[in-house]
Amino acid sequence: MAKARIAVIGAGLMGHGIAQVFALAGHDVAIYDSVMANLDTVRTRILTNFKDLGDDQSAVERVQPTANLAAAVRDADYVVEAVLEDLALKQKLFVEIERHVRPETILASNTSVIPITRIMEGLCDRSRALGTHWWNPPYLVPLVEVIGTQWTSSKTTDWTIALHKAAGKMPVHVKKDVPGFVGNRLQHALWREAIALVEHGICDAETVDTVIKASFGRRLAVLGPLENADLVGTDLTLAIHQTVLADIEHRPGPSPYLEALVANGKLGFKSGEGFRTWSADAQAALRGKVLQHLKKARASDA
Ligand SMILES: NC(=O)c1ccc[n+]([C@@H]2O[C@H](COP(=O)([O-])OP(=O)(O)OC[C@H]3O[C@@H](n4cnc5c(N)ncnc54)[C@H](O)[C@@H]3O)[C@@H](O)[C@H]2O)c1
Repeated sequence: MAKARIAVIGAGLMGHGIAQVFALAGHDVAIYDSVMANLDTVRTRILTNFKDLGDDQSAVERVQPTANLAAAVRDADYVVEAVLEDLALKQKLFVEIERHVRPETILASNTSVIPITRIMEGLCDRSRALGTHWWNPPYLVPLVEVIGTQWTSSKTTDWTIALHKAAGKMPVHVKKDVPGFVGNRLQHALWREAIALVEHGICDAETVDTVIKASFGRRLAVLGPLENADLVGTDLTLAIHQTVLADIEHRPGPSPYLEALVANGKLGFKSGEGFRTWSADAQAALRGKVLQHLKKARASDA
Protein backbone atom coordinates (compact mmCIF):
# COMPACT_ATOMS: atom_id res chain seq x y z
CA MET A 1 0.00 0.00 0.00
CA ALA A 2 1.40 3.38 -1.03
CA LYS A 3 1.78 6.06 1.60
CA ALA A 4 -1.63 7.62 2.22
CA ARG A 5 -2.84 10.81 3.86
CA ILE A 6 -5.09 9.87 6.74
CA ALA A 7 -7.27 12.20 8.81
CA VAL A 8 -8.47 11.01 12.22
CA ILE A 9 -11.36 12.97 13.72
CA GLY A 10 -11.35 12.71 17.51
CA ALA A 11 -8.17 12.37 19.57
CA GLY A 12 -9.61 10.39 22.49
CA LEU A 13 -9.01 6.80 23.55
CA MET A 14 -9.71 5.28 20.12
CA GLY A 15 -8.67 8.20 17.89
CA HIS A 16 -5.13 8.47 19.25
CA GLY A 17 -4.66 4.69 19.00
CA ILE A 18 -5.94 4.59 15.40
CA ALA A 19 -3.63 7.50 14.50
CA GLN A 20 -0.76 5.60 16.12
CA VAL A 21 -1.36 2.48 14.01
CA PHE A 22 -1.50 4.41 10.73
CA ALA A 23 1.57 6.52 11.58
CA LEU A 24 3.56 3.39 12.45
CA ALA A 25 2.52 1.93 9.08
CA GLY A 26 4.19 4.92 7.39
CA HIS A 27 1.17 7.09 6.59
CA ASP A 28 0.88 10.82 7.24
CA VAL A 29 -1.82 11.38 9.84
CA ALA A 30 -3.64 14.63 10.60
CA ILE A 31 -5.67 14.44 13.78
CA TYR A 32 -8.48 16.85 14.73
CA ASP A 33 -10.37 17.31 17.99
CA SER A 34 -12.66 20.07 19.26
CA VAL A 35 -11.03 19.93 22.71
CA MET A 36 -7.63 21.63 22.67
CA ALA A 37 -6.31 19.69 25.69
CA ASN A 38 -6.83 16.41 23.82
CA LEU A 39 -4.89 17.71 20.82
CA ASP A 40 -2.10 19.05 23.03
CA THR A 41 -1.50 15.62 24.58
CA VAL A 42 -2.08 13.36 21.60
CA ARG A 43 1.55 13.04 20.46
CA THR A 44 2.76 12.45 24.03
CA ARG A 45 0.18 9.70 24.48
CA ILE A 46 1.23 8.03 21.23
CA LEU A 47 4.92 8.36 22.12
CA THR A 48 4.31 6.75 25.52
CA ASN A 49 2.63 3.82 23.78
CA PHE A 50 5.48 3.49 21.26
CA LYS A 51 8.02 3.42 24.11
CA ASP A 52 6.00 0.86 26.05
CA LEU A 53 5.64 -1.41 23.00
CA GLY A 54 9.19 -0.95 21.70
CA ASP A 55 7.84 0.49 18.42
CA ASP A 56 9.64 3.06 16.24
CA GLN A 57 9.26 6.30 18.20
CA SER A 58 10.10 8.49 15.20
CA ALA A 59 6.71 7.52 13.70
CA VAL A 60 5.11 10.09 16.01
CA GLU A 61 6.58 12.80 13.74
CA ARG A 62 4.04 11.73 11.09
CA VAL A 63 1.12 12.68 13.39
CA GLN A 64 0.02 16.29 12.96
CA PRO A 65 -2.58 17.58 15.44
CA THR A 66 -4.78 20.39 14.16
CA ALA A 67 -7.70 22.37 15.57
CA ASN A 68 -9.00 23.08 12.05
CA LEU A 69 -11.33 20.42 10.65
CA ALA A 70 -11.15 21.63 7.06
CA ALA A 71 -7.33 21.65 7.14
CA ALA A 72 -7.27 18.14 8.65
CA VAL A 73 -9.34 16.58 5.88
CA ARG A 74 -8.61 18.75 2.82
CA ASP A 75 -5.84 16.56 1.36
CA ALA A 76 -6.88 13.29 2.96
CA ASP A 77 -7.25 10.03 1.04
CA TYR A 78 -9.07 8.52 3.99
CA VAL A 79 -10.94 10.07 6.93
CA VAL A 80 -11.85 8.03 10.01
CA GLU A 81 -14.09 9.50 12.68
CA ALA A 82 -13.77 8.54 16.38
CA VAL A 83 -15.69 11.24 18.27
CA LEU A 84 -18.27 10.65 21.01
CA GLU A 85 -20.93 7.98 20.39
CA ASP A 86 -23.62 10.52 19.39
CA LEU A 87 -25.59 10.07 16.16
CA ALA A 88 -26.46 13.76 15.64
CA LEU A 89 -22.83 14.80 16.22
CA LYS A 90 -21.49 12.19 13.80
CA GLN A 91 -24.07 13.07 11.12
CA LYS A 92 -23.24 16.77 11.40
CA LEU A 93 -19.51 16.13 11.25
CA PHE A 94 -19.70 13.96 8.12
CA VAL A 95 -21.82 16.51 6.27
CA GLU A 96 -19.23 19.14 7.21
CA ILE A 97 -16.30 16.87 6.30
CA GLU A 98 -17.79 16.07 2.87
CA ARG A 99 -17.74 19.79 2.04
CA HIS A 100 -13.95 19.89 2.39
CA VAL A 101 -12.68 16.59 0.97
CA ARG A 102 -11.81 15.53 -2.55
CA PRO A 103 -14.45 13.51 -4.48
CA GLU A 104 -12.49 10.25 -4.10
CA THR A 105 -11.78 10.53 -0.35
CA ILE A 106 -13.12 7.59 1.65
CA LEU A 107 -15.07 8.37 4.83
CA ALA A 108 -15.26 5.93 7.75
CA SER A 109 -16.87 5.92 11.19
CA ASN A 110 -15.54 3.97 14.17
CA THR A 111 -18.93 3.91 15.91
CA SER A 112 -19.41 1.05 18.37
CA VAL A 113 -23.07 0.38 17.68
CA ILE A 114 -24.78 3.18 15.71
CA PRO A 115 -25.88 1.97 12.25
CA ILE A 116 -23.48 3.27 9.62
CA THR A 117 -26.50 3.81 7.35
CA ARG A 118 -27.89 6.41 9.78
CA ILE A 119 -24.55 8.17 10.25
CA MET A 120 -23.93 8.50 6.50
CA GLU A 121 -27.49 9.14 5.26
CA GLY A 122 -26.93 12.90 4.83
CA LEU A 123 -23.92 12.57 2.50
CA CYS A 124 -24.14 13.54 -1.17
CA ASP A 125 -21.96 10.57 -2.17
CA ARG A 126 -22.75 7.66 0.12
CA SER A 127 -20.83 5.15 -1.99
CA ARG A 128 -17.56 6.35 -0.45
CA ALA A 129 -18.71 5.85 3.15
CA LEU A 130 -18.48 2.85 5.48
CA GLY A 131 -17.86 1.74 9.03
CA THR A 132 -14.57 0.56 10.51
CA HIS A 133 -15.07 -0.85 13.97
CA TRP A 134 -11.78 -1.10 15.85
CA TRP A 135 -11.34 -2.69 19.29
CA ASN A 136 -9.61 -1.13 22.26
CA PRO A 137 -6.68 -0.66 22.41
CA PRO A 138 -6.42 -0.22 18.63
CA TYR A 139 -2.67 -0.90 18.59
CA LEU A 140 -3.04 -4.24 20.42
CA VAL A 141 -6.31 -5.82 19.25
CA PRO A 142 -5.93 -6.95 15.62
CA LEU A 143 -9.56 -6.96 14.41
CA VAL A 144 -11.20 -4.17 12.42
CA GLU A 145 -14.75 -4.85 11.23
CA VAL A 146 -15.29 -3.11 7.89
CA ILE A 147 -19.02 -2.52 7.52
CA GLY A 148 -20.63 -1.70 4.21
CA THR A 149 -24.03 -0.08 3.81
CA GLN A 150 -26.42 -0.66 0.91
CA TRP A 151 -24.66 2.25 -0.84
CA THR A 152 -20.97 1.44 -0.19
CA SER A 153 -19.06 0.70 -3.40
CA SER A 154 -16.85 -2.37 -3.60
CA LYS A 155 -13.94 -0.06 -4.51
CA THR A 156 -14.40 1.75 -1.17
CA THR A 157 -14.55 -1.52 0.77
CA ASP A 158 -11.61 -3.13 -1.03
CA TRP A 159 -9.35 -0.09 -0.57
CA THR A 160 -10.22 0.19 3.12
CA ILE A 161 -9.56 -3.50 3.73
CA ALA A 162 -6.20 -3.24 1.93
CA LEU A 163 -5.28 -0.14 3.98
CA HIS A 164 -5.90 -1.91 7.28
CA LYS A 165 -4.25 -5.15 6.22
CA ALA A 166 -1.11 -3.30 5.16
CA ALA A 167 -1.11 -1.54 8.56
CA GLY A 168 -0.92 -4.93 10.29
CA LYS A 169 -4.58 -5.13 11.30
CA MET A 170 -6.94 -8.03 10.65
CA PRO A 171 -9.86 -6.49 8.72
CA VAL A 172 -13.02 -8.51 8.08
CA HIS A 173 -15.89 -7.56 5.79
CA VAL A 174 -19.33 -7.23 7.39
CA LYS A 175 -21.71 -7.32 4.43
CA LYS A 176 -24.83 -5.94 6.14
CA ASP A 177 -25.11 -2.95 8.46
CA VAL A 178 -26.78 -4.70 11.41
CA PRO A 179 -26.77 -3.40 15.04
CA GLY A 180 -23.64 -4.58 16.88
CA PHE A 181 -22.03 -5.66 13.59
CA VAL A 182 -20.48 -9.12 14.20
CA GLY A 183 -18.20 -8.82 17.22
CA ASN A 184 -20.57 -7.07 19.60
CA ARG A 185 -23.49 -9.30 18.60
CA LEU A 186 -21.44 -12.36 19.55
CA GLN A 187 -20.06 -10.76 22.69
CA HIS A 188 -23.48 -9.67 23.92
CA ALA A 189 -25.12 -13.01 23.14
CA LEU A 190 -22.59 -14.47 25.61
CA TRP A 191 -23.06 -11.63 28.12
CA ARG A 192 -26.86 -12.07 28.04
CA GLU A 193 -26.53 -15.70 29.13
CA ALA A 194 -23.77 -14.86 31.62
CA ILE A 195 -26.05 -12.32 33.33
CA ALA A 196 -29.03 -14.70 33.24
CA LEU A 197 -27.03 -17.45 34.99
CA VAL A 198 -26.39 -15.06 37.90
CA GLU A 199 -29.93 -13.65 37.85
CA HIS A 200 -31.45 -17.12 38.11
CA GLY A 201 -29.10 -18.19 40.95
CA ILE A 202 -27.40 -20.91 38.92
CA CYS A 203 -23.98 -19.61 39.95
CA ASP A 204 -22.36 -16.38 41.10
CA ALA A 205 -20.63 -13.83 38.87
CA GLU A 206 -17.14 -15.00 39.79
CA THR A 207 -18.06 -18.56 38.78
CA VAL A 208 -19.36 -17.42 35.37
CA ASP A 209 -16.05 -15.70 34.66
CA THR A 210 -14.01 -18.66 35.96
CA VAL A 211 -15.96 -21.15 33.85
CA ILE A 212 -15.28 -19.15 30.70
CA LYS A 213 -11.64 -18.27 31.41
CA ALA A 214 -10.71 -21.82 32.50
CA SER A 215 -12.55 -23.70 29.73
CA PHE A 216 -13.52 -22.59 26.23
CA GLY A 217 -12.00 -19.14 26.85
CA ARG A 218 -8.59 -20.84 26.82
CA ARG A 219 -9.23 -22.11 23.30
CA LEU A 220 -11.14 -19.16 21.85
CA ALA A 221 -8.10 -17.30 20.51
CA VAL A 222 -7.27 -20.28 18.27
CA LEU A 223 -10.60 -22.08 17.92
CA GLY A 224 -13.68 -20.10 16.87
CA PRO A 225 -17.17 -21.45 17.67
CA LEU A 226 -17.87 -22.63 14.15
CA GLU A 227 -14.48 -24.31 13.83
CA ASN A 228 -15.30 -25.92 17.18
CA ALA A 229 -18.74 -27.04 15.94
CA ASP A 230 -17.13 -28.67 12.93
CA LEU A 231 -14.44 -30.22 15.13
CA VAL A 232 -16.96 -31.93 17.41
CA GLY A 233 -19.40 -32.55 14.55
CA THR A 234 -22.45 -30.61 13.41
CA ASP A 235 -24.60 -33.62 14.47
CA LEU A 236 -23.38 -33.28 18.05
CA THR A 237 -23.87 -29.50 17.89
CA LEU A 238 -27.48 -30.05 16.75
CA ALA A 239 -28.11 -32.57 19.53
CA ILE A 240 -26.81 -30.11 22.15
CA HIS A 241 -28.95 -27.32 20.70
CA GLN A 242 -32.04 -29.52 20.86
CA THR A 243 -31.44 -29.97 24.59
CA VAL A 244 -30.29 -26.53 25.74
CA LEU A 245 -31.51 -23.82 23.35
CA ALA A 246 -35.04 -23.63 24.76
CA ASP A 247 -33.54 -23.07 28.19
CA ILE A 248 -30.98 -20.43 27.24
CA GLU A 249 -31.96 -16.80 27.90
CA HIS A 250 -33.88 -15.37 24.94
CA ARG A 251 -35.75 -12.37 26.35
CA PRO A 252 -35.72 -9.60 23.74
CA GLY A 253 -34.94 -6.83 26.27
CA PRO A 254 -32.18 -6.20 28.81
CA SER A 255 -32.04 -8.29 32.01
CA PRO A 256 -34.03 -6.87 34.96
CA TYR A 257 -31.03 -7.88 37.12
CA LEU A 258 -28.77 -5.62 35.04
CA GLU A 259 -31.36 -2.82 35.10
CA ALA A 260 -31.50 -3.05 38.92
CA LEU A 261 -27.70 -2.84 39.21
CA VAL A 262 -27.71 0.35 37.15
CA ALA A 263 -30.72 1.82 39.01
CA ASN A 264 -28.92 1.19 42.32
CA GLY A 265 -25.74 2.91 41.16
CA LYS A 266 -23.77 -0.36 40.97
CA LEU A 267 -21.97 0.65 37.80
CA GLY A 268 -18.91 -1.61 38.04
CA PHE A 269 -15.39 -0.15 38.25
CA LYS A 270 -16.60 3.44 38.25
CA SER A 271 -18.65 2.98 41.46
CA GLY A 272 -16.57 0.15 42.99
CA GLU A 273 -19.35 -2.40 42.62
CA GLY A 274 -21.23 -4.05 39.75
CA PHE A 275 -21.68 -7.80 39.43
CA ARG A 276 -18.75 -7.97 41.88
CA THR A 277 -17.02 -5.48 44.20
CA TRP A 278 -13.86 -3.80 42.98
CA SER A 279 -11.23 -2.11 45.14
CA ALA A 280 -8.90 0.35 43.40
CA ASP A 281 -6.11 -2.26 43.65
CA ALA A 282 -8.27 -5.01 42.16
CA GLN A 283 -9.24 -2.73 39.27
CA ALA A 284 -5.61 -1.81 38.54
CA ALA A 285 -4.58 -5.48 38.76
CA LEU A 286 -7.24 -6.56 36.25
CA ARG A 287 -6.46 -3.75 33.83
CA GLY A 288 -2.74 -4.62 34.06
CA LYS A 289 -3.45 -8.32 33.47
CA VAL A 290 -5.50 -7.60 30.33
CA LEU A 291 -2.82 -5.27 28.95
CA GLN A 292 -0.02 -7.79 29.59
CA HIS A 293 -2.07 -10.54 27.96
CA LEU A 294 -2.72 -8.42 24.84
CA LYS A 295 0.92 -7.36 24.62
CA LYS A 296 2.07 -10.97 24.85
CA ALA A 297 -0.42 -11.96 22.12
CA ARG A 298 0.83 -9.15 19.89
CA ALA A 299 4.43 -10.22 20.45
CA SER A 300 3.62 -13.82 19.63
CA ASP A 301 1.71 -12.75 16.46
CA ALA A 302 4.87 -10.91 15.35
N1 LIG B 1 -13.67 2.87 23.78
C1 LIG B 1 -13.83 1.74 23.10
O1 LIG B 1 -13.51 0.64 23.57
C2 LIG B 1 -14.38 1.80 21.70
C3 LIG B 1 -14.23 0.68 20.86
C4 LIG B 1 -14.71 0.75 19.54
C5 LIG B 1 -15.35 1.89 19.11
N2 LIG B 1 -15.51 2.97 19.96
C6 LIG B 1 -16.17 4.17 19.44
O2 LIG B 1 -15.17 5.11 19.08
C7 LIG B 1 -15.68 6.44 19.24
C8 LIG B 1 -14.78 7.20 20.19
O3 LIG B 1 -14.74 6.54 21.42
P1 LIG B 1 -13.58 6.83 22.49
O4 LIG B 1 -13.65 5.71 23.48
O5 LIG B 1 -12.31 7.14 21.80
O6 LIG B 1 -14.16 8.17 23.18
P2 LIG B 1 -13.34 9.36 23.88
O7 LIG B 1 -14.32 10.05 24.74
O8 LIG B 1 -12.08 8.83 24.50
O9 LIG B 1 -12.92 10.30 22.66
C9 LIG B 1 -13.84 11.07 21.94
C10 LIG B 1 -13.13 12.30 21.44
O10 LIG B 1 -14.02 13.02 20.61
C11 LIG B 1 -13.76 14.39 20.84
N3 LIG B 1 -14.89 15.19 20.37
C12 LIG B 1 -16.08 15.40 20.96
N4 LIG B 1 -16.84 16.20 20.20
C13 LIG B 1 -16.11 16.47 19.08
C14 LIG B 1 -16.33 17.25 17.91
N5 LIG B 1 -17.47 17.90 17.72
N6 LIG B 1 -15.34 17.31 16.98
C15 LIG B 1 -14.19 16.66 17.18
N7 LIG B 1 -13.91 15.93 18.26
C16 LIG B 1 -14.86 15.84 19.20
C17 LIG B 1 -13.55 14.48 22.35
O11 LIG B 1 -12.89 15.70 22.70
C18 LIG B 1 -12.68 13.25 22.57
O12 LIG B 1 -11.30 13.54 22.43
C19 LIG B 1 -17.11 6.29 19.76
O13 LIG B 1 -17.99 6.32 18.69
C20 LIG B 1 -17.07 4.91 20.41
O14 LIG B 1 -18.34 4.34 20.52
C21 LIG B 1 -15.03 2.94 21.23
